[in-house]
Amino acid sequence: MILGIETSCDECSASVVTHIPGQDRVRVLSLATFSQTEIHKPFGGVVPEVASRNHLETINLMIQTALDDAKVKPKQLECIAVTNRPGLVGALLVGLSAGKALAYACNKPLVPVHHLEGHAVSVFLTDQSDSQPEGSSEAENLEYPLLLAIVSGGHTNLYRVEKSPQFWTPDFLKSSLVGRSRDDAAGEAFDKTAKKLGFPYPGGIWIDKSSKGGKVDAFHFPRALGQKSILDFSFSGLKTAVSLKVDELKSSGQLKEKIPDLCASIQEAIVDALLNKIYLAVQKYECRSLVIVGGVAANSRLRFRLASEWQRQGLARPPVFPQMEYCTDNAAMIAAAGAFRFRQGNFLEPLKMLSLNALASAEV
Ligand code: KG4
Ligand code: ZN
Repeated sequence: MILGIETSCDECSASVVTHIPGQDRVRVLSLATFSQTEIHKPFGGVVPEVASRNHLETINLMIQTALDDAKVKPKQLECIAVTNRPGLVGALLVGLSAGKALAYACNKPLVPVHHLEGHAVSVFLTDQSDSQPEGSSEAENLEYPLLLAIVSGGHTNLYRVEKSPQFWTPDFLKSSLVGRSRDDAAGEAFDKTAKKLGFPYPGGIWIDKSSKGGKVDAFHFPRALGQKSILDFSFSGLKTAVSLKVDELKSSGQLKEKIPDLCASIQEAIVDALLNKIYLAVQKYECRSLVIVGGVAANSRLRFRLASEWQRQGLARPPVFPQMEYCTDNAAMIAAAGAFRFRQGNFLEPLKMLSLNALASAEV
């Protein structure tokens, strides 16, 4: 049993998981998350200092709740996994210090986890119930090489992956990177355009919801870097185009009635931009499976398009997404990454982990 802790941004989360022997599956025994969304709402985005102070107030309760819900005593844990990069340094330090203190007090090893490594393995999380959750059976049948797409609020990265999740360390992922965003991440494009439309932060889910009934081709927004030789993304032009269109509709008094069309068209532009490069990469690297993780993997249009298009793109298996609750930031995915690393003997002994630091950068 492994305790995971995640405080890299505005979710304060703790979780207990257990690795299912002989399988690439991790069972979630408990997950306690306090989302700071409401606290940051008046500011239109995450305020780092406010985030750290709130993590400090809630982290002990999240850890205690996760342990209690899983009916686990700290002494029964095999190790403690904690996000130490990338993210807001003040926020990361709260989770890291809590993880270190518990590991030291209980004489347990600590596994420092890269936040993206956590997202990557989130497809292998399964619930306590015996019923097969959405997508989980596909996660057991992945074929390699696979294309892994991490689409979150901070990253839009494509990886060509040849090995099973035990080996998905930060170094391995770094060496497998084949495409990334040159400016805004896909989630950031959702959030910034949503803000222009007057939706609260984070706006991805609002665009998703408000697009229902709208026409995907009502407005044309740019899909940048269309060249087939490029696997990188760029979303900053979309943000500008949406801003100009919203100002135009506002001044002609049409904005309100056009919200569903605008949302559907913005969403289509982001989904198109993502899928164009994902399909190019699948073909270029002859990928057999496709795994999509991160907050944007919760998007209904992305899931709908992939469900009908994957076979035409030469994939051997249907695309695999995490269960909805594991798309956005959570400690279960951090614990899962810790579980895989622990099995590989890749952890820090109690006395060796005290000098470990939190780092803002994603670079390893
Ligand atoms: O992975 P995540 O929780 O945090 C980061 O590591 O960045 O992703 C958060 C991002 C936000 O940009 C949010 O707007 C986006 O995921 N998101 C969505 C949806 N749900 C969350 N974007 C589009 N459609 C959704 N349904
Ligand atoms: Zn994240």
